[in-house]
Amino acid sequence: MKIDLYEKVWMIGTAGMLTVFFGVIAYEAVAMGRMPPSHIETIDPKTVMTDPRFAPQGVRVANDGSVHVHTVGLTFTWLPGEITLPAGLPVTFHITSIDVTHGYQIVRTNAQSMVIPGYVSQFTTTFDPGDYLVVCNEYCGVGHHTMFAKMKVVPAEQWQGPGGATAAPAGATTEAGHDH
Ligand code: CUA
Repeated sequence: MKIDLYEKVWMIGTAGMLTVFFGVIAYEAVAMGRMPPSHIETIDPKTVMTDPRFAPQGVRVANDGSVHVHTVGLTFTWLPGEITLPAGLPVTFHITSIDVTHGYQIVRTNAQSMVIPGYVSQFTTTFDPGDYLVVCNEYCGVGHHTMFAKMKVVPAEQWQGPGGATAAPAGATTEAGHDH
């Protein structure tokens, strides 16, 4: 079979590129342990509501002053339905589902994650003050469009966590009250 020179060049070039791409992905996954963020931590969907990671749901301040949000998704709501967070400080979200796959999306930010039963999705981000809407962006059933929550972000110095806990600025280097 005779293959035209240019055709041969394109075939070899394409095969070479695919080999390189596959090699990079395989190397990152195996040697560097790089995985989709939603698949790092597992949980039994049946025991989420009693698991200390999600009972109770809501905002927590860790011993180091870092702020965490623990949210459970279920058809067709996010628990809790309303949270208040400090502006300008890193907030880490831990989200799981007790039934089907949902999508946690904080509207008008780049914060979003798939939420898959059996896994704990996690991401860390910061916010400007304001009122935000959280929606579900993964079709999950007849009530999908009604699945939302509210998020309020207030200046860090006005914010208090559960039991009056205050958040520590990351690395304690930034002055409270700086804004973007
Ligand atoms: Cu939950 Cu769509």
